[in-house]
Amino acid sequence: MATGRFLTFEGMDGCGKTTQLRALAEWFRQQGRSVVETVEPGGTEIGRQIRKVLLDPANTAIFPRTELLLYFASRAQNVEEVIRPALDRGDLVLCDRFTDSTLVYQGAGRGLQAPVVRELDRIACQGLEPHLTILIDIDLETSLLRARRRNAKVGQDESRIDDESAAFHSKVREGYLELAAMFPERIVLIDGRATMAEVTRLIQEAVLERV
Ligand code: TYD
Repeated sequence: MATGRFLTFEGMDGCGKTTQLRALAEWFRQQGRSVVETVEPGGTEIGRQIRKVLLDPANTAIFPRTELLLYFASRAQNVEEVIRPALDRGDLVLCDRFTDSTLVYQGAGRGLQAPVVRELDRIACQGLEPHLTILIDIDLETSLLRARRRNAKVGQDESRIDDESAAFHSKVREGYLELAAMFPERIVLIDGRATMAEVTRLIQEAVLERV
């Protein structure tokens, strides 16, 4: 029986989830907890290679189903190599994106069927589900602006999904809000317009209450 806890962070590009994940990890470590940070896609050596294929803007030839399978290929490797063993040790695992991302980007965004995504999740993750998911919500304009700014700074080599249309990202946001309404006991919706410190505080509060 796994005794650890599995927390995921979700939200649109530029919502601040990566910064907040790091802050939460630091906060737990200060309390003496053993924390593992990981990311999807990526998180393992194999996953990082898959991530390159997925996010390279030159790879415009990828079909939606190929993309879907690659996201789950990265996740299957991460679950088996990193996440499960950490949970079995009793660690706290913080993951930057997980299957909710696939449900909204490939499901809602690309129009692939949610039951197909859930079936692949069953195969790739073997029943592993987050105990808690922090969803940081920002509006479309803020997301596009922050993603553009970041890509200008760090380069365009991971921008394939960011480059999608505003209509695509708008479906992604709707998808997230629908998921939050569907699973209120698992997903905590946090308003990403608040200051960084305030978002950090809201996340700590939610985690204390539920984990
Ligand atoms: P990420 O590294 O979190 O990028 P960002 O910091 O811009 O949020 O995720 C990379 C991209 O991959 C992001 O645009 C969302 C997309 N993605 C999917 O389309 N499906 C998935 O299942 C996952 C995990 C990510």
